[in-house]
Amino acid sequence: MVKGGRKMKMMLLLVLQIVVAVTAANVTYDHRALVIDGKRKILISGSIHYPRSTPEMWPDLIQKSKDGGLDVIETYVFWSGHEPEKNKYNFEGRYDLVKFVKLAAKAGLYVHLRIGPYVCAEWNYGGFPVWLHFVPGIKFRTDNEPFKAEMQRFTTKIVDLMKQEKLYASQGGPIILSQIENEYGNIDSAYGAAAKSYIKWSASMALSLDTGVPWNMCQQADAPDTMINTCNGFYCDQFTPNSKNKPKMWTENWSGWFLGFGDPSPYRPVEDLAFAVARFYQRGGTFQNYYMYHGGTNFDRTSGGPLISTSYDYDAPIDEYGLLRQSKWGHLRDLHKAIKLCEDSLIATEPTITSLGSNLEAAVYKTSGSCSAFLANVGTKSDATVTFNGQSYHLPAWSVSILPDCKNVAFNTAKINSATVSTAFARQSLKPDGGSSAELCSQWSYIKEPIGISKTDAFLKPGLLEQINTTADKSDYLWYSLRMDIKGDETFLDEGSKAVLHIESIGQVVYAFINGKLAGSGHGKQKITLDIPVDLVSGKNTIDLLSVTVGLANYGAFFDLVGAGVTGPVTLKSAKSGSSVDLASQQWTYQVGLKGEDTGLATGDSPEWVSKTPLPTKQPLVWYKTTFDAPSGSEPVAIDFTGTGKGIAWVNGQSIGRYWPTSIAGNNGCTDSCDYRGSYRANKCLKNCGKPSQTLYHVPRSWLKPSGNTLVLLEEMGGDPTQISFTTKQTGSSLCLMVSQSHPAPVDTWTSDSKISKKKRTRPVLSLHCPVSTQVISSIKFASFGTPKGTCGSFTHGHCNSSRSLSLVQKACIGLRSCNLEVSTRVFGEPCRGVVKSLAVEASCS
Ligand code: GAL
Repeated sequence: MVKGGRKMKMMLLLVLQIVVAVTAANVTYDHRALVIDGKRKILISGSIHYPRSTPEMWPDLIQKSKDGGLDVIETYVFWSGHEPEKNKYNFEGRYDLVKFVKLAAKAGLYVHLRIGPYVCAEWNYGGFPVWLHFVPGIKFRTDNEPFKAEMQRFTTKIVDLMKQEKLYASQGGPIILSQIENEYGNIDSAYGAAAKSYIKWSASMALSLDTGVPWNMCQQADAPDTMINTCNGFYCDQFTPNSKNKPKMWTENWSGWFLGFGDPSPYRPVEDLAFAVARFYQRGGTFQNYYMYHGGTNFDRTSGGPLISTSYDYDAPIDEYGLLRQSKWGHLRDLHKAIKLCEDSLIATEPTITSLGSNLEAAVYKTSGSCSAFLANVGTKSDATVTFNGQSYHLPAWSVSILPDCKNVAFNTAKINSATVSTAFARQSLKPDGGSSAELCSQWSYIKEPIGISKTDAFLKPGLLEQINTTADKSDYLWYSLRMDIKGDETFLDEGSKAVLHIESIGQVVYAFINGKLAGSGHGKQKITLDIPVDLVSGKNTIDLLSVTVGLANYGAFFDLVGAGVTGPVTLKSAKSGSSVDLASQQWTYQVGLKGEDTGLATGDSPEWVSKTPLPTKQPLVWYKTTFDAPSGSEPVAIDFTGTGKGIAWVNGQSIGRYWPTSIAGNNGCTDSCDYRGSYRANKCLKNCGKPSQTLYHVPRSWLKPSGNTLVLLEEMGGDPTQISFTTKQTGSSLCLMVSQSHPAPVDTWTSDSKISKKKRTRPVLSLHCPVSTQVISSIKFASFGTPKGTCGSFTHGHCNSSRSLSLVQKACIGLRSCNLEVSTRVFGEPCRGVVKSLAVEASCS
């Protein structure tokens, strides 16, 4: 009886515990941190935008985030995706927000939901659905009744949905924080006095929705009380919130930067990113978010603009395809572990900040029971040796050391213990006998898109129309067409000196056809000026201008009004006499979108596809179709569009986005190796100058069947689709790392002095691990303990080298998936006394 009673009690306790696990958490904040169930929290967050990947990818992305040491997943909410037409909602597929939030919860992570609903985010029109622009009397992002009504309606819709699914922490869900608006403070001066009342209204509207968790506004110094104002930027250690009652929070730490068509590729060295994070926690920060942790892909026509690329890789710790970017991911994971080792002291108190010399700073978080310290060298040139609490510490320039017990270094931002892992795109054979492009070619079929007006809904209008007002962004394409009669005696027909068609457009691409033939084209962000010598004939002539948008603007005051298209002037000049005729004011015929878009060619189902040879290539405006088998294996798939011009592509009817491999990055600004020391800027570290901005385009695995997949291209510029190839992104054939004797021991082995004798303190270790579970280390390409030089892929021996290096590393690693090598003379002998030595290894897995 007694025994049974105890059993019952235990069971009751268990049930209670389970209930507690899903019941409400109380989230508040104080001047130090977000407070969850009465406890201040040190939180590490990362952005993953759910529509930039697929639901099939989400669990893995979230797991990799968790393994990387994140506590929180941050995402914007994308209004244009959820309400593509007014009152017609979409929460399916990539827009299944509820599923995404639940998956984060399932992994044990919190969620920061940035509702906006203006989000910027390099997303088309900053996340606003374009129909919003046509609401009578509307003015965006200001104290305007129609706008506020729509903003409130959508925000309420999202909050209600989250509540209905019990997703707020106050209901037992993962959402601990919500954001309203986005960086309005950066541009609010342009909106005058109405900006102030708009921000006040936004805050009280948000609060009235009663989520039970705090709200934040980012980059909003005048955020009203109770809204936490947070910082965005490459560094936020100098930031202070606008009230003594608010914690210091960083909502966007840019892990790299976004790519534009025509631009080189930005990257941000992990030493600098880790430095920025460590500096933030050193100076009292308690919440930091990587924007982006996984950037992903701008599928369909979702990329912002103008001219944002389809890839939104962002040089993030998880790459566009969902693979770990190493050593970035690994070094940050180690950083997060080191910060968490300090959590008790960090949440208990304020830092005491002291100078250790010029550019040298210590921050100590000390309570009666705990002590953690951060030592920083913010100088950009020289390494330093500092004395702290009577001990000496080596601090590389632009680095922070983290001492969870105020004594022993667990981590230094400039000393990487995590190996670089190569990734490569491997061209795939799609057919058993090799799948050459020639073979694919025979299977291509095509449909020519008519040049000029072909749809019955075309309409006449005098003058030149702005594009977004005309298309409502239903399509990238707008035809401007003009018929003109030229009499035999007109000066435009002079032999030997052609007439010149002058066109001005405000973006982003324009093709000019004269009598059905492409005469010239150009592109630009906000301004295109073309002067095209043209052949006219006596009698009727047709001028067809195809104007193309490449992502609507997403940033800046009044970005919604910048517009696009051929807004003029458009004139025809006689090269000989110099006289010119104004065409802008004439009667133009307009066609929104292409015929093939209306007839649904994207799915590939139309009976009109032509399989005749030869396939027309290098001609503008051709739709192409082929079928293909999925590359074998489970690795992520990309199409290499080299050989094509510009257009949109669909796989099995799903748009993989705009492709534009002929958009070439400028020649200037790239560096072979970028010095991480010193302040980062978006254009500080660039690669890929003079090369296409983007040739590879992600095709999510889940969109593919094993065989018989349909690929449709709308090639607007002219290209040869038979040149495209399929690739898979492979990871892990080459590992590479250099660890010096001055590196901290692996953070996983860190133990505070109270628990370990000095002698036993672990030494630095070089760890190698083949990421693919079926692979082992098969060869050592380079190994040197001494003073090796260079970086991964190009290590060379220095003046000092232990002759045993290679054989020792081979012995310890070959045939194993992982190996650990202590970086010490105990293992490698003493090749040169009085010098700090390093171990550099490059290994292959297979
Ligand atoms: C910020 C903005 C983000 C994103 C970022 C650049 O200003 O809040 O949404 O656009 O810049 O990637």
